[in-house]
Amino acid sequence: MTLATSSAATARVPVRVHAMRVLARDIHLLELRRGDGVALPDAAPGAHIDVELPGGLVRQYSLLAGLSTAPGTQVIGVKRDPASRGGSRHLCGELRLNDTLHVSAPRNLFALAPQAPHSVLIAGGIGITPVWSMVRQLIAEGASWELHYAARSRADAALADELLQLPQVHCFFDDEHPGRSLDLAGIVERAAPEAHFYCCGPAPMLAAFEAATVGRSPTQVHVEHFAPRAPEPSTSTNAPCTIRLQRQNREVVLAPGQSVLAALRAQGIDAPSSCEQGICGACETPVLEGEVEHRDSILSSAERTANASMMICCSLPRGPLLVLDL
Ligand code: FES
Repeated sequence: MTLATSSAATARVPVRVHAMRVLARDIHLLELRRGDGVALPDAAPGAHIDVELPGGLVRQYSLLAGLSTAPGTQVIGVKRDPASRGGSRHLCGELRLNDTLHVSAPRNLFALAPQAPHSVLIAGGIGITPVWSMVRQLIAEGASWELHYAARSRADAALADELLQLPQVHCFFDDEHPGRSLDLAGIVERAAPEAHFYCCGPAPMLAAFEAATVGRSPTQVHVEHFAPRAPEPSTSTNAPCTIRLQRQNREVVLAPGQSVLAALRAQGIDAPSSCEQGICGACETPVLEGEVEHRDSILSSAERTANASMMICCSLPRGPLLVLDL
């Protein structure tokens, strides 16, 4: 879902492109299988994988459940971005059947809350990909849910034909409502107090969703980001800080403006990473001591307050000492 520089630290396996087809305008579906016959792992709805691309780029793509009849297959949906710097351009234009890609194990930052009394799903454009798997899961569980799906037009809406057969699904095509957008505030206002809300879509939709749900419990509001949130002004002191790696019994001095990940690498210390933009979760590291200015797009406000972990690619220490479980 987003562009990043590769790190060698996150293990990836080779997979073969088993099938390709067009899901909607500029949206391609890719079925991936291992060449050695070993099944790729299943994942819960909302999970994504990292896909390594030529030039050392890595992007994150949500897994789509139920769209392949071949067992052990993983399916992703890719939207061609006209401003692509190589990622979607490669996957939607240059990739061929039987080509090899390297992918990570699934990671889930957008999981369904178990046994929620009601789930309100909101998807914009390619943001339908994680939500599609959620819909299937909620149907299988006999759960109460509704989906609001916005796209530029019906031709741009992947899986709209299948979804529109379900009474819980409400589609909003921009070209049928000139000058208007999906009424997120109204959708949230009409939902019961105990409902859980899920949103995946472009940045303006996520901003509107976060504004609309501000009065709801943060534990009931779930967001999947395609790109990092706009950075807030830093409140860290920008003073040197010592990073203590508890398990390795080592200390690293962080220079002003340097990320923890960069400081570790400068000392030859390997740590998992992928997107390096605070959106994939690969670098999440437990914090044992020290305050953190959380600058990622993953942790909820409650998780930030708890300060139990941090994304070391982008978040910064707030004091002179930070102790990590590394
Ligand atoms: S590497 Fe993706 S969140 Fe840090």
